[in-house]
Amino acid sequence: MSDFPVAALRSVEIATPHLAGSIEFYTAVWGLDVAAEADGTVYLAATGSDFHVLELTAGDATALRKVSFRARSQEDLHRLFARAREAGCEVLRSPAPSSAPSGGMSFLVREPQGCAIEFVHGDRTKPARVIADRPERLAHVNINSADVDTLSVFYQDVLGFRLSDRSKLMAFLCCNSDHHAIVVAEGPRNGLNHVAFLMPDLESVMRGSGRMIDHGYPIGWGVGRHGPGDNVFAYFVDPTGAVIEYTAEVLQIDDSYIAKGPAYWVWPPGRTDQWGIAPPKSEACKAAQLAIPFAAARA
Ligand SMILES: [Fe+2]
Repeated sequence: MSDFPVAALRSVEIATPHLAGSIEFYTAVWGLDVAAEADGTVYLAATGSDFHVLELTAGDATALRKVSFRARSQEDLHRLFARAREAGCEVLRSPAPSSAPSGGMSFLVREPQGCAIEFVHGDRTKPARVIADRPERLAHVNINSADVDTLSVFYQDVLGFRLSDRSKLMAFLCCNSDHHAIVVAEGPRNGLNHVAFLMPDLESVMRGSGRMIDHGYPIGWGVGRHGPGDNVFAYFVDPTGAVIEYTAEVLQIDDSYIAKGPAYWVWPPGRTDQWGIAPPKSEACKAAQLAIPFAAARA
């Protein structure tokens, strides 16, 4: 397997204008647990080994504050910092012991297109459990970009990701055996497209989707099976306008996987998933996928 300095996508931080309501939604409906609360940040855990997968903080409007990755080693953490700085990233916090309850060493930079990215090594983990219908960990973050190829090359050349597939509108990037951890999607402006949470299986995606519907959150797109990555999906808009996805059965790849290009990833007319059953994406979901900006990360 490729020599990836980044071991995994770990977590995201989202600012919400309704912190209490967002906590209630992500615990009672989406399926996360409160892991810790410190300095105005609420850390929410999935059932897997990550201490947390989502940080919620109060803000004037919904925004993506940062995406956090786990570096493979302490040396990789420092190497990533040096490379990010050389590549023109704004340094928001140099490598230092993290003040978050998840601990470890971390640094925070803003990549050239405006998204704050954090790298951590030695953070706390917990025993992993698998619970039907509840997310295990993050699966991927999809970032809107007005210049997809430049950001895709940044992830490859600076952060050591590999391009796993390229469709007309999206670049899929991996840092381990998951087909993608980051997706860069063509958009009119840079920002958050959506955050995907990995469910144990297809049944859990279906049951989780039913739970969302029961609570008044309609499916925005899906249930279906994606082309690149082969994962099943159901998209929703959370109470403050961020798009979130339940996904499962993500394609596992190794170095023998050959990236295919836009000419390969074409659907027959009217089809948006492999099965051909996903109804057209709702207008609300489409709008929400373009509405969430990056916000200043708290150093
Ligand atoms: Fe997705």
